[in-house]
Amino acid sequence: MATKTETSAKKQKNEETPDVEVVMMEEEGTAEPTIDDLPGVGPATAEKLREAGFDELLAVAVMSAGDLADQAELGEAVASKIIQAAKKMANIGGFISGKALMERRREVQKLSSMVKSIDDLLAGGFETQALIEVYGEFGSGKTQIGHQLAVNCTMPISEGGLDGDVVYIDTEDTFRPERITQMARGRGLDPAAVLDRIHVARAYNSAHQMLLAEEIKRMSKGLNIKMIIVDSLTSHFRSEYIGRGMLATRQQKLNRHLKDLKQLADVNNAMVLVTNQVMSKPDAMWGDPTKPIGGHVLAHASTFRLYLRKAKGGRRIARLVDSPNLPDGECVYQVCEDGLRD
Ligand code: GTP
Ligand code: MG
Repeated sequence: MATKTETSAKKQKNEETPDVEVVMMEEEGTAEPTIDDLPGVGPATAEKLREAGFDELLAVAVMSAGDLADQAELGEAVASKIIQAAKKMANIGGFISGKALMERRREVQKLSSMVKSIDDLLAGGFETQALIEVYGEFGSGKTQIGHQLAVNCTMPISEGGLDGDVVYIDTEDTFRPERITQMARGRGLDPAAVLDRIHVARAYNSAHQMLLAEEIKRMSKGLNIKMIIVDSLTSHFRSEYIGRGMLATRQQKLNRHLKDLKQLADVNNAMVLVTNQVMSKPDAMWGDPTKPIGGHVLAHASTFRLYLRKAKGGRRIARLVDSPNLPDGECVYQVCEDGLRD
């Protein structure tokens, strides 16, 4: 566990060079079984399975023998045995009563944006145990929302915050402690105390980004992580996996990453906020000529989606899209020097 002084020392270093802050923790001994633990699967077969994208027991367990044999280039008899074993070992999950679900829902906390119009749109604020996607064109204010919610998250619960720590995965080198300082002052907070609770890591490529998300599982023990921000979720994936031929691989990786993030949200009763740029579709004749990158994978993974755009006179519009329990709608706000305002 990192002590307070270690954390702030690293933070200072972060301000000079956007170095990676990784807090190492000892791994727990109770690891879940993996495909390497399947009886009869040696390193070579495990490698074949992984190469074909089967890196989890559950992914193997739900296959048919013929398909697994095809995709992982195994004999059908071998594939069949592997599937039977995976069915026994995989954590299939299970049914949970509506009552138990209600209990879990009762634990959901809400983080206020402290902008009335946005909170009204979201019936009180941003929910924990949820994955929130904020998408929009460049300059539409996605990073500003990330900074503001990071600040708010550290505030006391009685004031609309979550009294929580924030993990910020920065893929575009746009996290600015100076901006946090301005926004903290705007809320009458001590900027140093706020910065001390925001743990930033710069992700250099998509593989690194995925590793950092896994790292959060370990570092979360000593902290009260209430918010995980990935800004931007998709930029590395988009620049690394180019063209139709790589689309399937990209979506598969993105799916894996989103599952890890969602799990963190559930385990910590935290919220995950990811940003996503929209892709220009100049050939679109009707409707909005833009659509978010990430396709169905991301659309399915997100609990709430907010579409941001700029309007006249420095105003900003956020549109709530596809919420499970709230009506779609729009709200207007502003980005000011001291943060987001009505
Ligand atoms: P990309 O990451 O490029 O896709 O954009 P984004 O959606 O993350 O945009 P971002 O959140 O970086 O918004 C940038 C905009 O926020 C600027 O164009 C400004 O209009 C506004 N902004 C940023 N800092 C300040 C500030 O200190 N004061 C004011 N008034 N506005 C600011
Ligand atoms: Mg940005």
